[in-house]
Amino acid sequence: MPNVRSAQTDKVNFFGNATPRELAAKYGTPLYVYNENVLRRRCRELLGLSGLPGFQVNYSAKANTNPALLRIVREEGFHADAMSPGELHINKLAGFTSDLLLYVCNNVSAAEMKNAVDNGLLVSVDSLSQLDLYGTVNPGGKAMIRINPGIGAGHHKKVVTAGKETKFGIDPTAMDDVRALLKKHNLTLAGINQHIGSLFMEPDSYLNAIDFLLHFVQTDLADLFPSLELIDFGGGLGIPYHKYENQPRLDMEALGTRLHAKLSAWVDETGYKGKFFIEPGRYVTAECGVLLGTVYATKFNGENRYVGTDLGFNVLVRPAMYDSFHDIEIYRENGQPDADLVEQTVVGNICESGDILAKKRPLPLIREGDVLGVLDAGAYGFVMSSSYNQRPRAAEVLITSDGTPKLIRRRETLDDLTRCFVEEE
Ligand code: LLP
Repeated sequence: MPNVRSAQTDKVNFFGNATPRELAAKYGTPLYVYNENVLRRRCRELLGLSGLPGFQVNYSAKANTNPALLRIVREEGFHADAMSPGELHINKLAGFTSDLLLYVCNNVSAAEMKNAVDNGLLVSVDSLSQLDLYGTVNPGGKAMIRINPGIGAGHHKKVVTAGKETKFGIDPTAMDDVRALLKKHNLTLAGINQHIGSLFMEPDSYLNAIDFLLHFVQTDLADLFPSLELIDFGGGLGIPYHKYENQPRLDMEALGTRLHAKLSAWVDETGYKGKFFIEPGRYVTAECGVLLGTVYATKFNGENRYVGTDLGFNVLVRPAMYDSFHDIEIYRENGQPDADLVEQTVVGNICESGDILAKKRPLPLIREGDVLGVLDAGAYGFVMSSSYNQRPRAAEVLITSDGTPKLIRRRETLDDLTRCFVEEE
């Protein structure tokens, strides 16, 4: 079926047996559409990074918690993390048992830690103060600590999660304080983790951070090493958002070869018998998601051509929040490919001038009635959406392996918006 711009989704038969316009007509827009085959492919690439028996992939569920996707990720053999009671609840709903879950939290209450412990999860704490609190919740139990390795990486300063300018992790020089707290509460150090930031496209910063953690465990934590069951290197693996410019993918083969060699050598050297986790979120779910929206208006303000859609930052906040780039496709009834590009600013229907999805983007001329597809919207898309301006949140559809569309989250209603209001007497 010809379209104005659809080469990327055509390549992987993203919409299966339906066209994007049919999906938009049937389920309405804005609509998050996910593709099961793409999701499974990404899962298998990650599992293929190392064949070491202790190597596991721990899906960072914050990227997308729709249970239909979580079930697929679980079927593929992943573990998952949770960082809130809500994520823990939904992970369990999707069939993750406690042995497959890890609680990686930040600044939480004793009640929240207790909830995780009662559910049988190992809890990673990321400050001395939280370790002390954890000790009161689970005295004599197992503990895990998050280290701030001092090396950060990421696509935007808001997603760099290591180094002195972030709130995360325990300073590696504070291990005597950690020892004292472990002793105070009779805790056993069972795990250690780090996460340096999000979206690296070259493996070096990640591998350097792994070197740091392995070396740190071997030297600074030599006395605690025998009880360690889990070393978690965090996530951050990037995906190419600039697909129409042929941005190269992260070289998973090179990453796998180097990672596997490093971990194998370390196991041989130290006799470590525990698990290694990597903890990707974006790499798992970003590319399996396309966000569909409808164009309702076009206009010029001075020289600027604006394309008005239902894809405001209430639906996808990444462009407004991080200046993130998402490729856009254009689906039109009997549309023909169009190589003439015009600079256009694609905006939503929210009452803010920062409600911009794509700024001065060269694209084929977009018209009223077109359906747009925002690529790579499966991670940090729906989960970061809101009902700002009192717009109910979008529906989600999964294109299953055989190409059939299946509704996996209904569109919110006006009743959903008002459900929690308490009427005054
Ligand atoms: N582990 C921990 C402890 C994390 O905090 C995160 C992400 C991950 C793993 C997974 O990182 P990933 O593989 O997805 O990069 N909303 C931002 C990204 C925030 C990431 C927060 N932490 C965005 O849309 O780019």
